[in-house]
Amino acid sequence: MKIVGISGSPNRDGSNSHMIDRALDIARQRGFEVENISLAGADISPCTDCHVCRTENSCPIEDDMAGINSSLASADGIIASSPVYFGTLSGQLKMLFDRTLPLRRNGFLLKDKVGAALAVGASRNGGQEYTVWSIHAWMHIHGMIVVGDNNHFGGITQKAANTDEVGMKTVEDTVNKLCDTLDRLAPV
Ligand SMILES: Cc1cc2nc3c(=O)[nH]c(=O)nc-3n(C[C@H](O)[C@H](O)[C@H](O)COP(=O)(O)O)c2cc1C
Repeated sequence: MKIVGISGSPNRDGSNSHMIDRALDIARQRGFEVENISLAGADISPCTDCHVCRTENSCPIEDDMAGINSSLASADGIIASSPVYFGTLSGQLKMLFDRTLPLRRNGFLLKDKVGAALAVGASRNGGQEYTVWSIHAWMHIHGMIVVGDNNHFGGITQKAANTDEVGMKTVEDTVNKLCDTLDRLAPV
């Protein structure tokens, strides 16, 4: 089974990539195939609500989203991480989320995949919980099975994530809950 991790930050080596790298390392050690998607340098334009994906199973915008949508459709589990920007998810991750509309309109292709969310802010209480819920909203609207960290809502850290031991434990607990749930649905 495959778990796709998405780092929703424009920084290639920042806290989000550290959190996703750690989560995917754990998933790999547990026997899952993993794929790491970083939005640092990704070419993703906003959805223009052109309606093409209502009638055709395609999106006319030519950028990195065709490949990303195909990776997401091939996953069994998805773990998405965002920096907190003004109290919610990054614009980069929101643009990716909006551009997954063709997957929903053409057979709910993310339905029943298991999803989990991570967030990191510069402040201890800078909006991480709301950011996690915003990621959960995208997952619920796709019909995904959403899990937390077996305690609260998901992985929550304060920048720099690699120095936040308590926060990184919630990241580890979240990916383990994701793996546990996939194992229960279909043992690897
Ligand atoms: C535009 C912008 C808005 C931000 N807003 C918040 C915020 O509301 N709360 C917070 O705690 N941190 C905020 N930050 C700090 C980022 O969340 C922090 O730098 C992030 O954890 C960096 O993750 P990265 O290293 O993966 O890029 C903001 C940063 C930027 C660039």
